[in-house]
Amino acid sequence: MPNEAKTITVRNPKWDFADIDNLGTMDTFMRTLWYTLSLVFPEGERYFIRSVKRYQDQITDPQLQKEIKAFIAQETQHGRMHEKFNDEFILENNEIARARKQQEEQGRKPLWVIESFFNKYVSPKLNLAVTAAAEHYTATWAINALDDERIKNLPSSLRNLIYWHAIEEIEHRHVAFNVLNAVDGSYAMRAAGMLVESVMMSASLPTLFMRLLSREPNVDYLAILRSAVKESTDEKGLIRSFFTGFWTYLRPGFHPDDDQKGRERAREITLELGKLVNVA
Ligand SMILES: [Fe+2]
Ligand SMILES: [Fe+2]
Repeated sequence: MPNEAKTITVRNPKWDFADIDNLGTMDTFMRTLWYTLSLVFPEGERYFIRSVKRYQDQITDPQLQKEIKAFIAQETQHGRMHEKFNDEFILENNEIARARKQQEEQGRKPLWVIESFFNKYVSPKLNLAVTAAAEHYTATWAINALDDERIKNLPSSLRNLIYWHAIEEIEHRHVAFNVLNAVDGSYAMRAAGMLVESVMMSASLPTLFMRLLSREPNVDYLAILRSAVKESTDEKGLIRSFFTGFWTYLRPGFHPDDDQKGRERAREITLELGKLVNVA
Protein backbone atom coordinates (compact mmCIF):
# COMPACT_ATOMS: atom_id res chain seq x y z
CA MET A 1 0.00 0.00 0.00
CA PRO A 2 1.39 3.47 -0.85
CA ASN A 3 2.41 5.55 2.16
CA GLU A 4 0.28 8.45 1.06
CA ALA A 5 -2.83 6.29 1.54
CA LYS A 6 -1.97 5.85 5.20
CA THR A 7 -1.54 9.50 6.15
CA ILE A 8 -2.86 10.22 9.61
CA THR A 9 -3.47 13.94 9.96
CA VAL A 10 -3.82 15.45 13.41
CA ARG A 11 -6.32 18.28 13.15
CA ASN A 12 -7.29 20.74 15.80
CA PRO A 13 -10.91 21.77 15.36
CA LYS A 14 -12.12 24.65 17.45
CA TRP A 15 -15.86 24.48 17.00
CA ASP A 16 -18.30 25.40 19.62
CA PHE A 17 -21.80 24.06 19.38
CA ALA A 18 -23.57 27.40 19.52
CA ASP A 19 -25.48 26.72 16.27
CA ILE A 20 -27.30 23.73 17.77
CA ASP A 21 -30.55 24.45 19.50
CA ASN A 22 -32.08 21.07 18.85
CA LEU A 23 -31.37 17.89 16.93
CA GLY A 24 -34.56 18.22 14.92
CA THR A 25 -33.54 16.07 11.96
CA MET A 26 -32.71 13.16 14.25
CA ASP A 27 -35.61 11.07 15.47
CA THR A 28 -35.74 9.89 19.08
CA PHE A 29 -33.95 6.65 18.23
CA MET A 30 -31.06 8.33 16.41
CA ARG A 31 -30.73 11.10 18.95
CA THR A 32 -30.60 8.66 21.87
CA LEU A 33 -28.13 6.47 20.01
CA TRP A 34 -25.95 9.48 19.26
CA TYR A 35 -26.03 10.60 22.90
CA THR A 36 -25.11 7.06 23.97
CA LEU A 37 -22.09 6.97 21.67
CA SER A 38 -20.96 10.49 22.46
CA LEU A 39 -21.12 9.76 26.20
CA VAL A 40 -19.03 6.59 25.98
CA PHE A 41 -16.44 7.88 23.49
CA PRO A 42 -14.19 9.96 25.81
CA GLU A 43 -13.58 7.21 28.38
CA GLY A 44 -13.34 4.55 25.67
CA GLU A 45 -10.78 6.57 23.76
CA ARG A 46 -8.64 7.12 26.83
CA TYR A 47 -8.71 3.34 27.33
CA PHE A 48 -7.58 2.81 23.70
CA ILE A 49 -4.71 5.25 24.22
CA ARG A 50 -3.56 3.52 27.43
CA SER A 51 -3.76 0.09 25.78
CA VAL A 52 -1.62 1.13 22.81
CA LYS A 53 0.81 3.27 24.83
CA ARG A 54 1.72 0.31 27.02
CA TYR A 55 3.40 -1.33 24.00
CA GLN A 56 4.76 1.79 22.29
CA ASP A 57 8.33 1.13 23.47
CA GLN A 58 8.37 -2.33 21.91
CA ILE A 59 7.65 -1.06 18.40
CA THR A 60 10.77 -0.86 16.26
CA ASP A 61 9.16 0.17 12.94
CA PRO A 62 9.64 3.98 12.70
CA GLN A 63 6.55 4.38 10.49
CA LEU A 64 4.36 2.61 13.07
CA GLN A 65 5.95 4.68 15.84
CA LYS A 66 4.91 7.84 13.97
CA GLU A 67 1.42 6.46 13.47
CA ILE A 68 1.05 5.61 17.17
CA LYS A 69 1.83 9.23 18.05
CA ALA A 70 -0.73 10.47 15.51
CA PHE A 71 -3.29 7.91 16.75
CA ILE A 72 -2.85 9.11 20.34
CA ALA A 73 -3.12 12.76 19.28
CA GLN A 74 -6.28 12.09 17.25
CA GLU A 75 -7.98 10.09 20.00
CA THR A 76 -7.08 12.72 22.60
CA GLN A 77 -8.77 15.37 20.46
CA HIS A 78 -11.85 13.18 19.91
CA GLY A 79 -12.30 12.74 23.66
CA ARG A 80 -11.86 16.46 24.20
CA MET A 81 -14.40 17.49 21.55
CA HIS A 82 -16.99 14.91 22.59
CA GLU A 83 -16.65 16.02 26.19
CA LYS A 84 -17.19 19.60 25.07
CA PHE A 85 -20.30 18.55 23.14
CA ASN A 86 -21.54 16.40 26.04
CA ASP A 87 -20.99 19.19 28.58
CA GLU A 88 -22.49 21.93 26.43
CA PHE A 89 -25.37 19.97 24.97
CA ILE A 90 -26.26 16.64 26.57
CA LEU A 91 -25.51 17.18 30.25
CA GLU A 92 -27.47 20.41 30.39
CA ASN A 93 -30.86 18.72 30.27
CA ASN A 94 -30.07 15.13 31.09
CA GLU A 95 -29.84 13.85 34.63
CA ILE A 96 -28.69 10.36 33.55
CA ALA A 97 -25.74 11.86 31.67
CA ARG A 98 -24.96 14.14 34.63
CA ALA A 99 -25.05 11.23 37.09
CA ARG A 100 -22.81 9.20 34.79
CA LYS A 101 -20.24 11.98 34.57
CA GLN A 102 -20.31 12.38 38.35
CA GLN A 103 -19.62 8.67 38.80
CA GLU A 104 -16.68 8.90 36.38
CA GLU A 105 -15.28 11.90 38.23
CA GLN A 106 -15.44 9.88 41.44
CA GLY A 107 -13.41 7.14 39.77
CA ARG A 108 -16.28 4.68 39.44
CA LYS A 109 -15.62 3.45 35.92
CA PRO A 110 -16.62 -0.09 34.93
CA LEU A 111 -14.04 0.03 32.13
CA TRP A 112 -11.23 0.55 34.66
CA VAL A 113 -12.28 -2.57 36.54
CA ILE A 114 -12.22 -4.68 33.37
CA GLU A 115 -8.94 -3.15 32.20
CA SER A 116 -7.21 -3.74 35.56
CA PHE A 117 -8.56 -7.28 35.71
CA PHE A 118 -7.10 -8.12 32.28
CA ASN A 119 -3.79 -6.41 33.10
CA LYS A 120 -3.44 -8.29 36.38
CA TYR A 121 -4.98 -11.70 35.74
CA VAL A 122 -4.92 -12.26 31.95
CA SER A 123 -2.52 -10.09 29.95
CA PRO A 124 -2.34 -6.40 28.98
CA LYS A 125 -2.26 -7.74 25.43
CA LEU A 126 -5.95 -8.51 25.80
CA ASN A 127 -6.66 -4.80 26.36
CA LEU A 128 -4.70 -4.09 23.19
CA ALA A 129 -6.65 -6.79 21.32
CA VAL A 130 -9.94 -5.31 22.59
CA THR A 131 -8.77 -1.89 21.38
CA ALA A 132 -7.87 -3.24 17.92
CA ALA A 133 -11.35 -4.79 17.66
CA ALA A 134 -13.06 -1.62 18.92
CA GLU A 135 -11.15 0.40 16.32
CA HIS A 136 -12.49 -1.92 13.65
CA TYR A 137 -16.04 -1.29 14.84
CA THR A 138 -15.61 2.48 14.99
CA ALA A 139 -14.09 2.56 11.48
CA THR A 140 -16.91 0.36 10.12
CA TRP A 141 -19.52 2.67 11.57
CA ALA A 142 -17.55 5.73 10.46
CA ILE A 143 -17.73 4.64 6.82
CA ASN A 144 -21.50 4.30 7.10
CA ALA A 145 -21.78 7.70 8.77
CA LEU A 146 -20.04 9.46 5.87
CA ASP A 147 -22.92 8.56 3.55
CA ASP A 148 -25.78 8.83 6.02
CA GLU A 149 -28.32 11.37 4.69
CA ARG A 150 -29.55 12.12 8.23
CA ILE A 151 -26.11 13.37 9.22
CA LYS A 152 -25.77 15.64 6.16
CA ASN A 153 -28.70 17.73 7.35
CA LEU A 154 -27.68 18.19 10.97
CA PRO A 155 -26.61 21.58 12.38
CA SER A 156 -23.18 22.20 10.89
CA SER A 157 -21.05 21.97 14.04
CA LEU A 158 -22.57 18.60 14.94
CA ARG A 159 -22.31 17.30 11.38
CA ASN A 160 -18.67 18.38 11.26
CA LEU A 161 -17.95 16.75 14.61
CA ILE A 162 -19.31 13.46 13.28
CA TYR A 163 -17.50 13.72 9.91
CA TRP A 164 -14.22 14.77 11.49
CA HIS A 165 -14.32 11.93 14.00
CA ALA A 166 -15.34 9.46 11.30
CA ILE A 167 -12.54 10.52 8.93
CA GLU A 168 -9.89 10.17 11.62
CA GLU A 169 -11.23 6.78 12.74
CA ILE A 170 -10.79 5.57 9.15
CA GLU A 171 -7.32 7.11 8.90
CA HIS A 172 -6.00 5.40 12.00
CA ARG A 173 -8.01 2.18 11.87
CA HIS A 174 -4.93 0.00 11.34
CA VAL A 175 -2.71 1.39 14.10
CA ALA A 176 -3.84 -0.64 17.15
CA PHE A 177 -4.17 -3.68 14.88
CA ASN A 178 -0.57 -3.35 13.67
CA VAL A 179 0.70 -2.81 17.21
CA LEU A 180 -1.11 -5.96 18.28
CA ASN A 181 0.35 -7.85 15.33
CA ALA A 182 3.83 -6.68 16.31
CA VAL A 183 3.53 -7.94 19.90
CA ASP A 184 1.21 -10.90 19.41
CA GLY A 185 0.23 -11.90 15.89
CA SER A 186 -1.81 -14.91 16.98
CA TYR A 187 -5.33 -15.40 15.68
CA ALA A 188 -6.43 -16.49 19.17
CA MET A 189 -5.53 -13.12 20.72
CA ARG A 190 -7.17 -11.16 17.88
CA ALA A 191 -10.36 -13.25 18.13
CA ALA A 192 -10.40 -13.04 21.94
CA GLY A 193 -10.18 -9.24 21.67
CA MET A 194 -13.13 -9.17 19.28
CA LEU A 195 -15.24 -11.47 21.46
CA VAL A 196 -14.55 -9.46 24.62
CA GLU A 197 -15.16 -6.13 22.86
CA SER A 198 -18.45 -7.41 21.40
CA VAL A 199 -19.69 -8.63 24.79
CA MET A 200 -18.65 -5.37 26.47
CA MET A 201 -20.39 -3.27 23.82
CA SER A 202 -23.53 -5.41 23.74
CA ALA A 203 -23.83 -5.05 27.50
CA SER A 204 -22.99 -1.38 27.93
CA LEU A 205 -24.45 0.45 24.91
CA PRO A 206 -28.05 -0.91 25.03
CA THR A 207 -28.14 -0.37 28.81
CA LEU A 208 -27.13 3.28 28.54
CA PHE A 209 -29.42 3.72 25.52
CA MET A 210 -32.44 2.43 27.48
CA ARG A 211 -31.58 4.55 30.53
CA LEU A 212 -31.38 7.68 28.38
CA LEU A 213 -34.56 6.75 26.53
CA SER A 214 -36.48 6.27 29.77
CA ARG A 215 -36.05 10.01 30.50
CA GLU A 216 -37.31 11.17 27.08
CA PRO A 217 -40.83 12.59 27.12
CA ASN A 218 -43.60 10.73 25.22
CA VAL A 219 -41.51 7.94 23.73
CA ASP A 220 -43.21 5.98 20.95
CA TYR A 221 -41.68 2.58 21.71
CA LEU A 222 -43.18 1.05 18.59
CA ALA A 223 -41.32 3.62 16.48
CA ILE A 224 -38.13 2.86 18.45
CA LEU A 225 -38.58 -0.84 17.71
CA ARG A 226 -39.18 -0.09 14.01
CA SER A 227 -36.00 2.00 13.88
CA ALA A 228 -34.03 -0.76 15.61
CA VAL A 229 -35.29 -3.33 13.08
CA LYS A 230 -34.44 -0.95 10.21
CA GLU A 231 -30.92 -0.36 11.57
CA SER A 232 -30.51 -4.12 11.88
CA THR A 233 -31.71 -5.02 8.39
CA ASP A 234 -30.71 -2.10 6.10
CA GLU A 235 -27.48 -2.69 4.28
CA LYS A 236 -25.94 0.42 5.86
CA GLY A 237 -27.78 0.08 9.18
CA LEU A 238 -25.74 0.81 12.26
CA ILE A 239 -26.74 -2.36 14.12
CA ARG A 240 -26.25 -4.48 11.02
CA SER A 241 -22.74 -3.10 10.59
CA PHE A 242 -22.01 -4.44 14.07
CA PHE A 243 -22.76 -7.99 12.89
CA THR A 244 -21.01 -7.72 9.54
CA GLY A 245 -18.02 -6.06 11.22
CA PHE A 246 -17.82 -8.91 13.70
CA TRP A 247 -17.60 -11.61 11.03
CA THR A 248 -15.27 -9.61 8.78
CA TYR A 249 -12.82 -9.17 11.63
CA LEU A 250 -12.81 -12.87 12.48
CA ARG A 251 -11.91 -13.86 8.93
CA PRO A 252 -8.44 -15.44 8.95
CA GLY A 253 -6.00 -13.11 7.19
CA PHE A 254 -8.13 -10.02 7.80
CA HIS A 255 -6.35 -6.65 7.88
CA PRO A 256 -7.96 -3.20 8.31
CA ASP A 257 -6.19 -1.99 5.16
CA ASP A 258 -8.32 -4.40 3.11
CA ASP A 259 -11.04 -1.75 2.92
CA GLN A 260 -9.69 0.65 0.30
CA LYS A 261 -13.16 1.92 -0.61
CA GLY A 262 -13.73 3.22 2.91
CA ARG A 263 -10.41 5.05 2.90
CA GLU A 264 -11.16 6.55 -0.52
CA ARG A 265 -14.56 7.81 0.65
CA ALA A 266 -12.98 9.32 3.76
CA ARG A 267 -10.50 11.19 1.56
CA GLU A 268 -13.31 12.58 -0.62
CA ILE A 269 -15.25 13.79 2.41
CA THR A 270 -12.07 15.27 3.90
CA LEU A 271 -11.70 17.44 0.79
CA GLU A 272 -15.36 18.50 0.96
CA LEU A 273 -15.16 19.11 4.67
CA GLY A 274 -12.04 21.21 4.24
CA LYS A 275 -14.08 23.67 2.21
CA LEU A 276 -16.65 23.92 4.97
CA VAL A 277 -14.52 24.20 8.07
CA ASN A 278 -10.88 24.53 8.89
CA VAL A 279 -10.07 20.95 9.83
CA ALA A 280 -8.82 19.36 6.63
FE1 LIG B 1 -11.90 8.36 18.19
FE1 LIG C 1 -10.10 5.31 17.00
